[in-house]
Order: sequence, then C-alpha cells, then structure tokens
Amino acid sequence: MKLTIDTTSRTLTVDTAGAPRILDLYTAEAFEALSREWVRLGWQLKYSYGFTWFGRPVIQLPEDLIRLQEALYAVAPDVIVETGVAHGGSLIFHASLCKALGRGRVVGVDIDIRKHNRAAIEQHALAPFITLLEGSSTSPAIVDAVRAQVRHGERVLVILDSNHSRDHVRAELEAYAPLVSPGSYLVAADGIMRDLTDVPGGHRDWRWDNPAVAVADFLQAHPEFELSPPRRGFDESSTPNDVTYWPDGWLRRRPDGAR
Ligand SMILES: C[S@@+](CC[C@H](N)C(=O)[O-])C[C@H]1O[C@@H](n2cnc3c(N)ncnc32)[C@H](O)[C@@H]1O
Repeated sequence: MKLTIDTTSRTLTVDTAGAPRILDLYTAEAFEALSREWVRLGWQLKYSYGFTWFGRPVIQLPEDLIRLQEALYAVAPDVIVETGVAHGGSLIFHASLCKALGRGRVVGVDIDIRKHNRAAIEQHALAPFITLLEGSSTSPAIVDAVRAQVRHGERVLVILDSNHSRDHVRAELEAYAPLVSPGSYLVAADGIMRDLTDVPGGHRDWRWDNPAVAVADFLQAHPEFELSPPRRGFDESSTPNDVTYWPDGWLRRRPDGAR
C-alpha cells in the first residue's frame, strides 16, 4: 500500500494495488488510515514499551489504558483478573484505580514471574490490593486458584494479556468467561496482531493466529457475550473508532447473560 500525504492540497492518497483513492486529509477516514500505519510502525519500534504506571513498566498503548480506566470506573469490579503480569505495571494500574474508587482488588497470573518483578510488585505501596499467582493461565490448578479468589456474588472483570496465540486465548476465554459478571467485560488484548503480518517483526501466520480470531470463535459458542467496546462517556470527537491494540477485544457479558 502507498500512502501519500499532501498537506498543501490537503489530501491523503491511499493506493492499494494501483487503485488510488484520494481522501480529504482532515477527515475521520484519513485519520483511520494514518492511525493504522502509526500503530503498525509504533509496534515495530516498541512504542508501548516506554511507559510506567506508578513506577512500574506497563506494556500497553496509553489509549487502551484510558479506555480501560473508563470501563473500570463504569463497572467498579470487586475483582480484576489479569493474565500476563510481566513487570507488573498493568496490575499496579488496576490497583491504583481500586484504591481511588475505594473498591476492588487485583489477581495477576503469569507463567513466569521474574524474581525482580515479584519483589518490586510485592514491595509497592499498592501491593495490598494485588494477589500474584504463578503458572500457566490455562492450567486447571491456576484457573481453580483464580476462582478461589472470588467470593460469591462479587463483580468480576477479566483481561487476557498473556500468550496471544489463537489456541491459548481461545482456551483462556473458555476458562475465565464463567467468572465474568453480567454487564462486565472479558478483554482479549492485542488483536492488533492481525494487522502486523507484513511489519518486519510480525509473522504471516498472525493473519489467523491472533486473539481477535479466538474471540470470533468464542462468540459462536457464547451468545451470552457480545462484542462491545465501552461506550464513550464523553465524545465530542470526530473519530468514531479508537486507536487501539485491542481491536475486537472487548467482550461484554450481556446484562441478562447469567453466569
Ligand atoms: C504482554 S506481557 C504482559 C504485559 C502486562 N499485562 C502489562 O500490561 O504490562 C505477557 C506476559 O504473559 C506471560 N505469559 C506467557 N504465556 C503465559 C501463559 N501460558 N500463562 C500465563 N502467562 C503467560 C509472559 O510471561 C509475559 O510476562
């Protein structure tokens, strides 16, 4: 694909396979085309590896964290479960919101919690809000251990950010969906992989081997969930779609979708 930005004529020319489309540069459509390339380029350059939350590295696109904050504020869960801890920044992010809201605690699962990361999380001021579990997120023992952290009737939101292969995410969706409360979310991170097949660090198999495909498979069998990104609580923007690493990642349990 060839993108040509002309700030003089205020156009963006999008040329796929010799069929150029000329867009007005200052439109949502041009913003989407340019954002897509910005996301792909930023992924290659590890743009999302440059942020911390309350001192801990958090490997997320800031746009996704803001949207997640909106969802957490709206749902106000009692328990936030996240698979994929890494340096712990996302757990600290959730914990900081729990503290601010005066409600909620966090359960983090990782197959390998590095010693220095565990120490930093356990010594953090927000550590009392966090329980760490080590093991594969799809192992029955870990799923049972997570389930044991949730008391009857508690409101639960789950974020899946561990191994992003289609099969692993599909198994995680099946394992953790029963915990998710009506009206709350089951988030599968990093569906963006489907758009990264031709980026230097990407892989052509990601076209089909990615979290968004796992979500589509899951939805076929689970009508109690719907694809539903959080509705914007404030929106004077002319950009209808989010810039995100989590396309097709927000599953909401329908309010009448009993657990
Ligand atoms: C993308 S990082 C998580 C980033 C973190 N959520 C954040 O926002 O900073 C992915 C993590 O998943 C973990 N992981 C990989 N396979 C896993 C599995 N089968 N079960 C649990 N964790 C796994 C890795 O060890 C790694 O720490």
